[in-house]
Amino acid sequence: MAVLQLDEFKTRQRATWEGGDYSACSPYIAEVGELVVTRAGITPGMRVFDVACGTGNAALPAARAGARVTGLDLAVKLLEAGRAKARAEGLDIDWREGDAENLPFEDGSFDRVLSTFGHMFAPRHDRTAQEMARVCRRGGAIVTATWTPEGVFGDLSKAAAAYMPPPPDYASPPPLWGREDHVRELFGKVATGFEFERHVNRIEWESVEAFADFFMAHFPPMVTAKAMLGERFAEMRERIVDVWRRRNEATDGRLLLPQEYLLSIVRL
Ligand SMILES: C[S@@+](CC[C@H](N)C(=O)[O-])C[C@H]1O[C@@H](n2cnc3c(N)ncnc32)[C@H](O)[C@@H]1O
Repeated sequence: MAVLQLDEFKTRQRATWEGGDYSACSPYIAEVGELVVTRAGITPGMRVFDVACGTGNAALPAARAGARVTGLDLAVKLLEAGRAKARAEGLDIDWREGDAENLPFEDGSFDRVLSTFGHMFAPRHDRTAQEMARVCRRGGAIVTATWTPEGVFGDLSKAAAAYMPPPPDYASPPPLWGREDHVRELFGKVATGFEFERHVNRIEWESVEAFADFFMAHFPPMVTAKAMLGERFAEMRERIVDVWRRRNEATDGRLLLPQEYLLSIVRL
């Protein structure tokens, strides 16, 4: 299979995240955006930027805290969903279509740069980190949440990778952003301090199988995989369901799935 050129990679990323129904999934991790906003110490009037904001899990609580918020994402469909949520709450957020690796803002435009599980999907981590640091003012902070490689998402990525085309060599694995040493290396030249916290987001569902039905029907990368894999999709689904069975903390037939993530605070 031909190696995807960068532009084509991003076009496919956008198509992937606009497929399925991410709006149905994002509420299950909304609490992470709220925690990121709290840890970022956002106060009224601050200029806040949510990178790869999707439907606004970090942008919305930042705006509720009184910040002047900009959210950027490749996927226009998700920006529209975020805009509708903001409008319903009477919040004023600047929603922009764009690429985390090439931000359309001046140096030092923001007091806080945030991302919840978005920045990690831009393929070139060094380039993304450079851009996030460039648009954040000195004295500001970059606060991110990323699933850890040793958590559920790491296992799920490994299970899915066996069925998907190999990533191009310029693309680093998304869960690497969930390692402290990686974050320290990415921002080492510009940071004045780092803080790291490990947290868990819990999915509660009536059963593993019922959650699988929901996830495979709505989570955009799964919807894309289903279209791509045809009959082999059932095999991949079973491998992923095995991950959830192994990680399930419930013993009564329900699902209680602990999803670990790293919250990183990079002070500039
Ligand atoms: C798992 S979703 C997270 C969305 C949101 N931050 C949240 O917490 O719900 C990943 C998001 O990253 C976006 N994304 C992927 N690559 C991107 C890039 N290079 N630039 C901007 N957004 C990107 C996708 O469109 C998608 O909205």
